[in-house]
Amino acid sequence: MQDQLESLILEAEQEIEKCSAPNDILNVRAKYLGKKSVLNGLYGRMRELSKEERPAFGGLLNSARVKIEAFLESRSEAIKQAAWKKDSSGFDYTLPGVSLSRGGLHPLSIVRRQIDEVFMSMGFEIAEADEIEDEFHNFDALNTPKDHPSRNLADTFYVEGGKLLRTQTSTVQIRVMEKYKPPIKIISPGRCYRNDKPDPSHSPVFTQVEALVVDKGISMIDLQDTLQSFARIMFGTKVKSRIRPHFFPFTEPSAEMDISCVACDGQGCRVCKQSGWLEMGGAGMVDPAVFDTLGIDSEIYTGFAFGLGVERIAMLKYNIPDMRILFENDLRMLRQFRGEL
Ligand code: DAH
Repeated sequence: MQDQLESLILEAEQEIEKCSAPNDILNVRAKYLGKKSVLNGLYGRMRELSKEERPAFGGLLNSARVKIEAFLESRSEAIKQAAWKKDSSGFDYTLPGVSLSRGGLHPLSIVRRQIDEVFMSMGFEIAEADEIEDEFHNFDALNTPKDHPSRNLADTFYVEGGKLLRTQTSTVQIRVMEKYKPPIKIISPGRCYRNDKPDPSHSPVFTQVEALVVDKGISMIDLQDTLQSFARIMFGTKVKSRIRPHFFPFTEPSAEMDISCVACDGQGCRVCKQSGWLEMGGAGMVDPAVFDTLGIDSEIYTGFAFGLGVERIAMLKYNIPDMRILFENDLRMLRQFRGEL
């Protein structure tokens, strides 16, 4: 009996060795371990044996089964490995890999996301619009006179079909007010374009975050409060903010927004050109003429708006002395910023 089992195991082993595909394994398994296999038949013959003989015989059968299982298992593993090594592309997946370097966000993206989050925490929603705009949304509806110098070819990039690359995210104010009725409370981060020569503080492409709040009873106090809260969350609780009179065609009154210099705590240094203050952008109360164009009743509603320069904020946060660095995408520079996070 033992001899018979041994030759059965040997026979199975040889046949398993010849398997070259997962299907072969299945067939051989059925042949040697399946219901109709010789081995299974032998289990049935246990009944013919005396009680004393049964355990030893059972043990033999079990160990034969275990051995055949082990052969099947190891051959099946080998088939898988071989298939992996030689898939149709000829690529060997078992070769040791080359480690890839990890990517990271650009400092501008990081700051943009932070700004989004700060304003969202203050209840603002995010609005977006196209970078290719028409004169109506970039100038006319923003109450900009036909002969305003910013409309010049020297300042604005015009594209085919009388369109232009928006020079300011203020276009989104118009897009939003065309579509929604007050109350409105949005910010809109995005790229803008101007025909400027690149220098440490100018770039033909730059990023602004526009804000627009329109409701009953909105005043300049709300603007100052929003600016102050934003500055504190972004730069720390010591930071002060102020607004100064200025002029923009689409706001009345108009203002410029400053924060106390974050490099010297307002003492005066190279970053703030000894003034103790840093310019953050323009702001003001929405001009009734803008509301009129969009059919919003300026007797009922008032609103404030502002536009922040995002590069300025990124440069302050990451100590970047020259705006062009943000657009050159020099990997050595970008890695350095990533290290600072
Ligand atoms: N769009 C202006 C610029 O690009 C900035 C600005 C000024 C935005 C006043 C505003 C605002 O929303 O109310 O210089």
